[in-house]
Amino acid sequence: MRINLYISSRIEFAMRVEINKQSKIDAVDFDNLDFGMLFTDHMFVCDYKDGEWKEPQIIPYQPIAVDPSMSALHYGQAVFEGMKAYKDQAGEVFLFRPEENFHRINRSSERLAIPAFPKNYFFEGLEKLLALDKEWIKSGIGNSLYIRPFVFASQAGVQASASNEYKFMIICAPVGAYYGGELHVKIAEKYSRAAQGGVGYAKAAGNYAAQFYPTKLAQDEGYQQVIWTDAHSHEYLEEAGTMNIFFRIGERLVTAPTTDTILDGVTRKSIIKIAEHLGIDVEVRPVRVDEIIAAHAQGQLKEVFGAGTAVVVSQIHSIGYKGEKYTLPKLDNYMADQLKSHIMGIQYNELEDPFQWRHAVRT
Ligand SMILES: Cc1ncc(COP(=O)(O)O)c(C=O)c1O
Repeated sequence: MRINLYISSRIEFAMRVEINKQSKIDAVDFDNLDFGMLFTDHMFVCDYKDGEWKEPQIIPYQPIAVDPSMSALHYGQAVFEGMKAYKDQAGEVFLFRPEENFHRINRSSERLAIPAFPKNYFFEGLEKLLALDKEWIKSGIGNSLYIRPFVFASQAGVQASASNEYKFMIICAPVGAYYGGELHVKIAEKYSRAAQGGVGYAKAAGNYAAQFYPTKLAQDEGYQQVIWTDAHSHEYLEEAGTMNIFFRIGERLVTAPTTDTILDGVTRKSIIKIAEHLGIDVEVRPVRVDEIIAAHAQGQLKEVFGAGTAVVVSQIHSIGYKGEKYTLPKLDNYMADQLKSHIMGIQYNELEDPFQWRHAVRT
């Protein structure tokens, strides 16, 4: 294995880069990718020890050895991010609002008592990783590279307290256009995803583990996902599965404000901006379950959709609540489609970028 000492002209730290000489790319069927099941040739790793983040490294993608008593395995002190890289028709690679993901992983880390990760390590590491694995990013709307930064407590020992050692890693998975079929969701009446004062606003690993069981119960009833409601009264709608949620009532687009129980989604905040830019009336306010049921009864509930990095915008076809199934109407023109093609146009460098969200990657 050849080992390069990578020293960027813009940075003042060394990063060890070990090139993978046995690329797997030729064996990959890019037309039939299962989301998040296959990873690129390299990964980024940086250890925290003795009160500081050590020299970052990029090495061939490989399993890592951990101690069985490692804190993250026992106490879930772990957070992650989800973002994507896109390639335009000319072969240039872009990230979409990556600063948002960088700040959010550090906000999540703070809540989990994990030390903040340095910005220059994050961006230099990510860009070098993308430069090395750029062949894994295919152009064409819908194709992208899903990027998963994550950090976890790696210290050995089962004391129930914050770890003194952490590992920050970035792995990448190629993904194709997602056609999930019709989406049927169930409003949570008993279980909760997040409570006030808790960790709902953080991308904490345990938030997702806690969703699996109620989601499985909903799946047993024929739904794919749960619309989470507030833990206190179950009267307010918060998120749909792992997406933020939007309602079109008449010609208005309504979505809940982000609080400490709702993830501050990058797609959500981008959609709000784009909708306003397109002249759509947007209301950000708490959304009551009974208001949505009443709007459906009056024929005013036109669309409901989820928004998130993985699927961008996902139209919801029906909503289950208290034993009833509320089906959304068929329309000639969906706001969800208009917003989705606009945000993707920006992501793939096919539309103007009035908000300067695109971040060109030096490959
Ligand atoms: C709970 C939750 N809500 C919302 C989102 C959407 O956030 P983003 O648009 O930043 O991907 C995600 C996905 O990452 C999520 O896990």
